[in-house]
Amino acid sequence: APEQVLKGKKVTITAGPTREALDPVRYLSNHSSGKMGFAIAAAAARAGAEVTLIAGPVRLDTPAGIKRVDVVSTEDMLRAAEAAADDCDLFIASAAVVDFRPTVVAAQKIKKEDDNESDVLQLVKNPDIVATIAGRTSKRPFVVGFAAETEKVAEHAKGKLARKNLDMIIANDVSDPEGGFNSDRNQVMVIDHAGEQALPAALKTELATQLVELIATRAFPGQHQ
Ligand code: C5P
Repeated sequence: APEQVLKGKKVTITAGPTREALDPVRYLSNHSSGKMGFAIAAAAARAGAEVTLIAGPVRLDTPAGIKRVDVVSTEDMLRAAEAAADDCDLFIASAAVVDFRPTVVAAQKIKKEDDNESDVLQLVKNPDIVATIAGRTSKRPFVVGFAAETEKVAEHAKGKLARKNLDMIIANDVSDPEGGFNSDRNQVMVIDHAGEQALPAALKTELATQLVELIATRAFPGQHQ
């Protein structure tokens, strides 16, 4: 059996999209499948971790041996993340969080006959979950983020690593047909303050095992040979 590189570690993972209601029947969201985050959660559990998986609305089964917390909105996800991070060694943010939410959720279905077309959607910026956890001064876990980019992947990812105060970022080119949102495969680059490393294209499930080993080495050095 492979060495349990996360034995005894508490790991929190966000996965999938968030969803922001506009009215009782409509929402803003994105095409995230949650596959990468669920694969990492499964790999972390196989590596011996105690895993909390905070999942937005996705159609995926819960991997074995994992505590799953289902959420819908970004603010729900933030609350669940803050609670889990209070007792956590490693926080991995793979969720595709909706960046803006409607200023108000209409109590009734918005009617197209309403005037003021330009006022139909007023948006306010959502909190940044991973930056909030990484910005902690106490109870701060090792924090890993993701960056889905369509160009200048390494450059944009390094910007996010610094801006969000992350320890590591996993970047992928979502315009590449070999990877991205709904694919079973992915190709990523892992960047931290020591440098960058491209991993070969692989199934998300295989990539997850490799990523968990790499993250464990960086997050908990000296614990495993
Ligand atoms: O800024 P961008 O959305 O590209 O950053 C991606 C990283 O930040 C991912 O790890 C994602 O889970 C996280 N994120 C977050 N909360 C947000 C926006 C992004 O945790 N509101």
